[in-house]
Amino acid sequence: MIHIINGPNLNLLGQREPQIYGSRTLEQINEGLSTAFPDASLTFFQSNHEGALIDYLQKAGFDPQTEGIVFNPGAYSHYSIALRDCIAAIPATVIEVHLSNIHAREDFRHTSVTAAAAKAVIAGLGPEGYAAAVRALTANGK
Ligand code: DQA
Repeated sequence: MIHIINGPNLNLLGQREPQIYGSRTLEQINEGLSTAFPDASLTFFQSNHEGALIDYLQKAGFDPQTEGIVFNPGAYSHYSIALRDCIAAIPATVIEVHLSNIHAREDFRHTSVTAAAAKAVIAGLGPEGYAAAVRALTANGK
């Protein structure tokens, strides 16, 4: 099982600042992943709440069925030590994904406190970043 987790405001994809985040909805992105990886067992979760994300990560992160986690923490990347600690606490491999290149944007987006706890970070590839992360998790056999 590979978990695709999205944080706050990512439920608004498609209508939220499309010049930055593109025109595809989260549902369309998730459907695209299911189509691209028919042999993978993908599970999708989105929440606008830090605690709900932590609860989900803890559960998925210790589940022996979990092959990996693809996580876009949204703005929480920039300041949630609680999410960082959670990623560090769980044994599952976590790949952090950002649709936009956070390093090419406002200064406050240049730091991701969650990134250091993740195995890898993909930023700026748009929805393709999620696919690249799934591919990496599949290729690693994790
Ligand atoms: C984001 C980048 C964050 O800075 C922002 O707060 C988001 C989306 C991205 O996918 O590019 O909500 O994580």
